[in-house]
Amino acid sequence: MANPLFRVFDVLTGARRTVATIVPRRTFDDVILPGSTRRALDQALVHVTSHDLIFNRWGLGERHPTGLALAFNFAGPPGTGKTICAEAIANALGRKLLLVRYEEMESVWMGETPKNVAAVFRMASEENAVLLFDEADAIATRRSTSVEHAFLRESNTVVSVLLKELETFNGVVIFATNLASNFDPAFERRIRTHVLFEMPGPEEREKIWRVQMHPTLTPLAPDVDFRTLARTYEATGGDIRNAVLKAAMAAAAETGRDALKAIHQRHLEEGIQQVPDGKRVMRQSLMTSS
Ligand SMILES: Nc1ncnc2c1ncn2[C@@H]1O[C@H](COP(=O)(O)OP(=O)(O)O)[C@@H](O)[C@H]1O
Ligand SMILES: [Mg+2]
Repeated sequence: MANPLFRVFDVLTGARRTVATIVPRRTFDDVILPGSTRRALDQALVHVTSHDLIFNRWGLGERHPTGLALAFNFAGPPGTGKTICAEAIANALGRKLLLVRYEEMESVWMGETPKNVAAVFRMASEENAVLLFDEADAIATRRSTSVEHAFLRESNTVVSVLLKELETFNGVVIFATNLASNFDPAFERRIRTHVLFEMPGPEEREKIWRVQMHPTLTPLAPDVDFRTLARTYEATGGDIRNAVLKAAMAAAAETGRDALKAIHQRHLEEGIQQVPDGKRVMRQSLMTSS
Protein backbone atom coordinates (compact mmCIF):
# COMPACT_ATOMS: atom_id res chain seq x y z
CA MET A 1 0.00 0.00 0.00
CA ALA A 2 2.48 2.59 -1.13
CA ASN A 3 -0.16 5.05 -2.21
CA PRO A 4 -0.49 7.68 0.56
CA LEU A 5 -4.10 8.40 -0.32
CA PHE A 6 -4.90 4.77 0.13
CA ARG A 7 -3.40 4.87 3.62
CA VAL A 8 -5.49 7.87 4.57
CA PHE A 9 -8.68 6.13 3.48
CA ASP A 10 -7.61 3.15 5.50
CA VAL A 11 -7.01 5.02 8.73
CA LEU A 12 -10.20 7.00 8.67
CA THR A 13 -12.70 4.26 8.24
CA GLY A 14 -11.03 1.37 10.01
CA ALA A 15 -12.05 -2.17 9.21
CA ARG A 16 -14.71 -1.28 6.68
CA ARG A 17 -12.46 0.56 4.29
CA THR A 18 -13.79 3.26 2.03
CA VAL A 19 -11.50 2.11 -0.74
CA ALA A 20 -10.16 -1.42 -0.99
CA THR A 21 -8.19 -3.32 -3.59
CA ILE A 22 -9.49 -6.84 -3.87
CA VAL A 23 -7.82 -9.73 -5.60
CA PRO A 24 -10.97 -11.45 -6.81
CA ARG A 25 -11.47 -15.05 -5.87
CA ARG A 26 -15.15 -15.57 -6.54
CA THR A 27 -16.36 -16.53 -9.99
CA PHE A 28 -19.71 -16.78 -11.73
CA ASP A 29 -19.91 -20.35 -10.41
CA ASP A 30 -20.45 -18.88 -6.96
CA VAL A 31 -23.42 -16.79 -8.07
CA ILE A 32 -26.93 -18.06 -8.70
CA LEU A 33 -29.05 -15.61 -10.67
CA PRO A 34 -32.54 -15.49 -12.15
CA GLY A 35 -32.46 -16.11 -15.93
CA SER A 36 -33.03 -12.51 -17.00
CA THR A 37 -30.28 -11.17 -14.74
CA ARG A 38 -27.91 -13.88 -15.92
CA ARG A 39 -28.55 -13.05 -19.58
CA ALA A 40 -28.01 -9.32 -19.06
CA LEU A 41 -24.80 -10.07 -17.22
CA ASP A 42 -23.54 -12.45 -19.91
CA GLN A 43 -24.11 -9.67 -22.44
CA ALA A 44 -22.18 -7.25 -20.24
CA LEU A 45 -19.36 -9.76 -20.01
CA VAL A 46 -19.18 -10.03 -23.80
CA HIS A 47 -18.87 -6.24 -23.98
CA VAL A 48 -16.20 -6.27 -21.31
CA THR A 49 -14.02 -8.98 -22.81
CA SER A 50 -14.11 -7.56 -26.34
CA HIS A 51 -13.46 -4.10 -24.94
CA ASP A 52 -10.39 -5.45 -23.18
CA LEU A 53 -9.19 -7.21 -26.30
CA ILE A 54 -9.67 -4.27 -28.66
CA PHE A 55 -8.53 -1.37 -26.52
CA ASN A 56 -5.82 -3.00 -24.45
CA ARG A 57 -4.35 -5.99 -26.21
CA TRP A 58 -4.91 -4.64 -29.71
CA GLY A 59 -3.61 -1.26 -28.61
CA LEU A 60 -6.48 0.79 -29.96
CA GLY A 61 -6.85 2.51 -26.59
CA GLU A 62 -3.59 4.33 -27.24
CA ARG A 63 -4.74 5.47 -30.66
CA HIS A 64 -8.19 6.51 -29.54
CA PRO A 65 -7.75 7.71 -26.00
CA THR A 66 -11.14 9.25 -25.18
CA GLY A 67 -14.62 7.97 -24.50
CA LEU A 68 -13.44 4.46 -23.83
CA ALA A 69 -14.68 3.65 -20.36
CA LEU A 70 -17.18 0.86 -20.22
CA ALA A 71 -19.70 1.72 -17.53
CA PHE A 72 -22.43 -0.50 -16.12
CA ASN A 73 -25.11 0.01 -13.56
CA PHE A 74 -25.94 -3.00 -11.39
CA ALA A 75 -29.31 -2.17 -9.87
CA GLY A 76 -31.22 -4.20 -7.31
CA PRO A 77 -32.11 -4.71 -3.66
CA PRO A 78 -29.32 -5.29 -1.12
CA GLY A 79 -28.00 -8.84 -0.98
CA THR A 80 -28.91 -9.84 -4.53
CA GLY A 81 -25.31 -10.37 -5.63
CA LYS A 82 -24.18 -7.08 -7.18
CA THR A 83 -20.84 -6.92 -5.40
CA ILE A 84 -20.05 -10.58 -5.91
CA CYS A 85 -20.79 -10.22 -9.65
CA ALA A 86 -18.44 -7.24 -9.95
CA GLU A 87 -15.81 -9.44 -8.32
CA ALA A 88 -16.58 -12.24 -10.77
CA ILE A 89 -16.19 -9.84 -13.72
CA ALA A 90 -12.78 -8.69 -12.46
CA ASN A 91 -11.85 -12.33 -11.99
CA ALA A 92 -12.90 -13.20 -15.55
CA LEU A 93 -10.63 -10.42 -16.80
CA GLY A 94 -7.75 -11.44 -14.53
CA ARG A 95 -7.80 -7.96 -12.95
CA LYS A 96 -8.00 -6.63 -9.46
CA LEU A 97 -11.17 -5.00 -8.22
CA LEU A 98 -10.96 -1.51 -6.76
CA LEU A 99 -13.97 -1.24 -4.50
CA VAL A 100 -15.14 2.23 -3.48
CA ARG A 101 -17.87 2.43 -0.84
CA TYR A 102 -19.26 5.60 -2.21
CA GLU A 103 -21.80 6.31 0.51
CA GLU A 104 -19.08 6.18 3.14
CA MET A 105 -16.71 8.23 1.06
CA GLU A 106 -19.28 10.97 0.83
CA SER A 107 -20.09 10.95 4.53
CA VAL A 108 -16.46 10.86 5.65
CA TRP A 109 -15.00 13.29 3.16
CA MET A 110 -17.85 15.60 2.17
CA GLY A 111 -16.26 18.55 0.35
CA GLU A 112 -13.32 16.41 -0.69
CA THR A 113 -15.44 13.89 -2.54
CA PRO A 114 -14.87 15.14 -6.11
CA LYS A 115 -11.11 15.12 -5.55
CA ASN A 116 -11.30 11.60 -4.17
CA VAL A 117 -13.37 10.40 -7.08
CA ALA A 118 -10.65 11.65 -9.43
CA ALA A 119 -8.05 9.93 -7.22
CA VAL A 120 -9.72 6.53 -7.33
CA PHE A 121 -9.85 6.68 -11.12
CA ARG A 122 -6.11 7.31 -11.05
CA MET A 123 -5.59 4.38 -8.70
CA ALA A 124 -7.68 2.12 -10.89
CA SER A 125 -5.63 3.13 -13.93
CA GLU A 126 -2.36 2.50 -12.13
CA GLU A 127 -3.47 -0.87 -10.86
CA ASN A 128 -5.26 -1.74 -14.06
CA ALA A 129 -8.26 -2.62 -11.93
CA VAL A 130 -11.97 -2.89 -12.51
CA LEU A 131 -13.54 0.01 -10.63
CA LEU A 132 -16.64 -0.58 -8.53
CA PHE A 133 -18.59 2.30 -7.01
CA ASP A 134 -20.58 0.32 -4.49
CA GLU A 135 -23.57 1.88 -2.67
CA ALA A 136 -23.56 4.51 -5.39
CA ASP A 137 -27.19 5.62 -5.21
CA ALA A 138 -26.16 9.11 -4.20
CA ILE A 139 -24.14 9.55 -7.40
CA ALA A 140 -26.86 8.26 -9.60
CA THR A 141 -29.85 10.00 -8.17
CA ARG A 142 -28.82 13.30 -6.72
CA ARG A 143 -28.16 15.93 -9.28
CA SER A 144 -30.06 19.13 -9.29
CA THR A 145 -29.92 22.38 -11.16
CA SER A 146 -30.60 24.22 -7.92
CA VAL A 147 -27.54 25.94 -6.55
CA GLU A 148 -29.12 27.00 -3.29
CA HIS A 149 -28.08 23.98 -1.36
CA ALA A 150 -24.38 23.39 -0.76
CA PHE A 151 -24.79 19.64 -0.62
CA LEU A 152 -26.52 19.56 -3.99
CA ARG A 153 -23.85 21.84 -5.42
CA GLU A 154 -21.30 19.39 -4.17
CA SER A 155 -22.95 16.39 -5.75
CA ASN A 156 -23.23 18.31 -9.00
CA THR A 157 -19.49 18.62 -8.94
CA VAL A 158 -19.11 14.92 -8.23
CA VAL A 159 -21.16 14.06 -11.29
CA SER A 160 -19.14 16.51 -13.40
CA VAL A 161 -15.88 14.98 -12.21
CA LEU A 162 -17.23 11.53 -12.83
CA LEU A 163 -18.25 12.37 -16.39
CA LYS A 164 -14.84 13.84 -17.06
CA GLU A 165 -13.05 10.81 -15.66
CA LEU A 166 -15.26 8.44 -17.64
CA GLU A 167 -14.14 10.31 -20.75
CA THR A 168 -10.50 9.34 -20.26
CA PHE A 169 -10.54 6.15 -18.18
CA ASN A 170 -9.70 3.18 -20.33
CA GLY A 171 -11.37 0.46 -18.32
CA VAL A 172 -14.45 -1.04 -16.77
CA VAL A 173 -16.49 0.89 -14.20
CA ILE A 174 -19.42 -0.61 -12.35
CA PHE A 175 -21.92 1.38 -10.31
CA ALA A 176 -23.97 -0.64 -7.83
CA THR A 177 -27.26 0.98 -6.86
CA ASN A 178 -30.44 0.03 -5.09
CA LEU A 179 -32.66 2.28 -7.15
CA ALA A 180 -32.75 2.45 -10.89
CA SER A 181 -34.61 5.72 -11.15
CA ASN A 182 -33.73 9.37 -11.57
CA PHE A 183 -30.45 9.07 -13.37
CA ASP A 184 -28.93 12.32 -14.44
CA PRO A 185 -29.34 12.31 -18.25
CA ALA A 186 -25.66 13.03 -18.98
CA PHE A 187 -24.69 10.25 -16.62
CA GLU A 188 -27.32 7.92 -18.06
CA ARG A 189 -25.83 8.37 -21.53
CA ARG A 190 -22.52 7.05 -20.25
CA ILE A 191 -24.02 3.83 -18.91
CA ARG A 192 -23.72 1.01 -21.42
CA THR A 193 -26.11 -1.39 -19.73
CA HIS A 194 -28.33 -1.51 -16.68
CA VAL A 195 -28.26 -4.99 -15.22
CA LEU A 196 -31.29 -5.54 -13.01
CA PHE A 197 -30.61 -7.81 -10.07
CA GLU A 198 -33.94 -9.33 -9.21
CA MET A 199 -34.99 -11.12 -6.05
CA PRO A 200 -34.25 -14.85 -6.38
CA GLY A 201 -37.22 -17.19 -6.86
CA PRO A 202 -37.61 -20.52 -4.99
CA GLU A 203 -35.47 -22.43 -7.48
CA GLU A 204 -32.62 -19.94 -7.28
CA ARG A 205 -32.92 -19.84 -3.51
CA GLU A 206 -32.52 -23.60 -3.30
CA LYS A 207 -29.30 -23.40 -5.29
CA ILE A 208 -28.07 -20.46 -3.23
CA TRP A 209 -28.56 -22.46 -0.01
CA ARG A 210 -26.50 -25.23 -1.52
CA VAL A 211 -23.73 -22.99 -2.91
CA GLN A 212 -23.25 -21.39 0.52
CA MET A 213 -22.05 -24.76 1.91
CA HIS A 214 -18.65 -26.27 1.27
CA PRO A 215 -19.21 -29.17 -1.15
CA THR A 216 -17.30 -31.70 0.97
CA LEU A 217 -16.30 -30.22 4.33
CA THR A 218 -19.52 -28.77 5.77
CA PRO A 219 -21.21 -31.43 7.95
CA LEU A 220 -24.90 -31.48 7.06
CA ALA A 221 -27.30 -33.67 9.03
CA PRO A 222 -29.53 -35.99 6.96
CA ASP A 223 -32.61 -33.93 7.82
CA VAL A 224 -31.36 -30.83 5.95
CA ASP A 225 -33.83 -29.97 3.21
CA PHE A 226 -32.86 -26.99 1.08
CA ARG A 227 -35.98 -27.19 -1.05
CA THR A 228 -38.26 -26.67 1.93
CA LEU A 229 -36.13 -23.77 3.19
CA ALA A 230 -36.19 -22.20 -0.27
CA ARG A 231 -39.97 -22.51 -0.55
CA THR A 232 -40.72 -21.35 2.96
CA TYR A 233 -38.51 -18.30 3.24
CA GLU A 234 -38.44 -15.45 0.78
CA ALA A 235 -34.88 -14.24 1.14
CA THR A 236 -32.03 -12.74 -0.81
CA GLY A 237 -28.66 -14.40 -1.31
CA GLY A 238 -27.29 -12.08 1.35
CA ASP A 239 -29.98 -13.22 3.82
CA ILE A 240 -29.22 -16.86 3.07
CA ARG A 241 -25.52 -16.28 3.56
CA ASN A 242 -26.16 -14.72 6.97
CA ALA A 243 -28.54 -17.52 7.95
CA VAL A 244 -25.98 -20.18 7.03
CA LEU A 245 -23.32 -18.49 9.14
CA LYS A 246 -25.69 -18.20 12.11
CA ALA A 247 -26.69 -21.84 11.72
CA ALA A 248 -23.07 -22.97 11.60
CA MET A 249 -22.33 -20.91 14.69
CA ALA A 250 -25.22 -22.51 16.59
CA ALA A 251 -24.26 -26.02 15.47
CA ALA A 252 -20.63 -25.50 16.46
CA ALA A 253 -21.60 -24.14 19.89
CA GLU A 254 -23.53 -27.25 20.90
CA THR A 255 -21.96 -29.58 23.43
CA GLY A 256 -20.22 -32.77 22.43
CA ARG A 257 -17.32 -33.80 20.27
CA ASP A 258 -16.60 -31.71 17.19
CA ALA A 259 -16.53 -34.82 15.04
CA LEU A 260 -20.17 -35.48 15.93
CA LYS A 261 -21.40 -31.94 15.33
CA ALA A 262 -23.49 -31.19 12.25
CA ILE A 263 -25.75 -28.50 10.90
CA HIS A 264 -29.36 -29.61 11.24
CA GLN A 265 -32.48 -28.31 9.59
CA ARG A 266 -33.50 -26.58 12.84
CA HIS A 267 -30.24 -24.59 12.86
CA LEU A 268 -30.91 -23.35 9.35
CA GLU A 269 -34.56 -22.58 10.17
CA GLU A 270 -33.54 -20.58 13.23
CA GLY A 271 -30.81 -18.88 11.24
CA ILE A 272 -33.12 -17.65 8.51
CA GLN A 273 -35.81 -16.66 10.99
CA GLN A 274 -33.31 -14.48 12.80
CA VAL A 275 -32.19 -12.65 9.70
CA PRO A 276 -35.12 -10.24 9.27
CA ASP A 277 -35.02 -9.56 13.03
CA GLY A 278 -31.35 -8.78 12.73
CA LYS A 279 -32.12 -6.24 10.06
CA ARG A 280 -34.82 -4.62 12.13
CA VAL A 281 -32.53 -4.32 15.13
CA MET A 282 -29.82 -2.78 12.99
CA ARG A 283 -32.12 -0.13 11.53
CA GLN A 284 -33.35 0.75 14.97
CA SER A 285 -29.88 1.22 16.42
CA LEU A 286 -28.91 3.36 13.46
CA MET A 287 -31.87 5.59 14.12
CA THR A 288 -31.29 5.92 17.84
CA SER A 289 -27.60 6.71 17.37
CA SER A 290 -28.28 9.62 15.02
N1 LIG B 1 -27.18 -14.48 -6.32
C1 LIG B 1 -26.39 -14.95 -5.35
N2 LIG B 1 -25.86 -16.20 -5.44
C2 LIG B 1 -25.08 -16.68 -4.45
N3 LIG B 1 -24.76 -16.00 -3.34
C3 LIG B 1 -25.26 -14.77 -3.20
C4 LIG B 1 -26.08 -14.18 -4.20
N4 LIG B 1 -26.42 -12.93 -3.81
C5 LIG B 1 -25.82 -12.74 -2.63
N5 LIG B 1 -25.12 -13.83 -2.24
C6 LIG B 1 -24.35 -13.98 -1.00
O1 LIG B 1 -24.58 -12.83 -0.20
C7 LIG B 1 -23.38 -12.08 -0.02
C8 LIG B 1 -23.67 -10.58 -0.17
O2 LIG B 1 -24.07 -10.32 -1.50
P1 LIG B 1 -23.59 -9.02 -2.30
O3 LIG B 1 -22.96 -9.45 -3.57
O4 LIG B 1 -22.77 -8.16 -1.41
O5 LIG B 1 -24.99 -8.34 -2.58
P2 LIG B 1 -25.26 -6.84 -3.00
O6 LIG B 1 -23.97 -6.25 -3.47
O7 LIG B 1 -26.29 -6.94 -4.08
O8 LIG B 1 -25.79 -6.17 -1.77
C9 LIG B 1 -22.43 -12.60 -1.07
O9 LIG B 1 -21.11 -12.50 -0.63
C10 LIG B 1 -22.87 -14.03 -1.24
O10 LIG B 1 -22.30 -14.85 -0.25
MG1 LIG C 1 -22.90 -5.11 -2.12
